[in-house]
Amino acid sequence: MTAPMPVAPCCLTRRQVLRGAGAAAGTVVGASVLAACAQGADPGQAAESVRSAGAGTVVIAVADVPVGGAASAEVNGQPVLVTQPAEGEVHVFSAVCTHEGCTVAPGDGELECPCHRSRFALEDAAVLGGPAPEPLGEVSVTVVDGDVVLA
Ligand code: FES
Repeated sequence: MTAPMPVAPCCLTRRQVLRGAGAAAGTVVGASVLAACAQGADPGQAAESVRSAGAGTVVIAVADVPVGGAASAEVNGQPVLVTQPAEGEVHVFSAVCTHEGCTVAPGDGELECPCHRSRFALEDAAVLGGPAPEPLGEVSVTVVDGDVVLA
């Protein structure tokens, strides 16, 4: 039997919270824990909010995005991931997970959601594993004078 995969405290599922607590107390504890965990972000709305920042909005300097990796940034108050799978090839994706809205982070050659371990590809944010049902939302960008900017 394998050991259970560690899960960040803020990322327990409702079932995990209720299983680990008493019936009545579990409801209260579960509600507070889940409220703290809930990102409340809708993936589609988050990507649209990023796009609404408008063409020319600077996201990050290309030099701040590792080749073969990704960097976190924020546009219009929304978390985004900027990837550079190959030198000079940059993509911007909403960092709002398509599973339950947690914020996805740069991983080792991929993008990783800390909540339930969904993994996404650097090139197109395709789902590589985990419960996420769809890729992360992509935002069109271009490079101007060394900066990644919204197209
Ligand atoms: S919110 Fe569940 S895998 Fe991201």
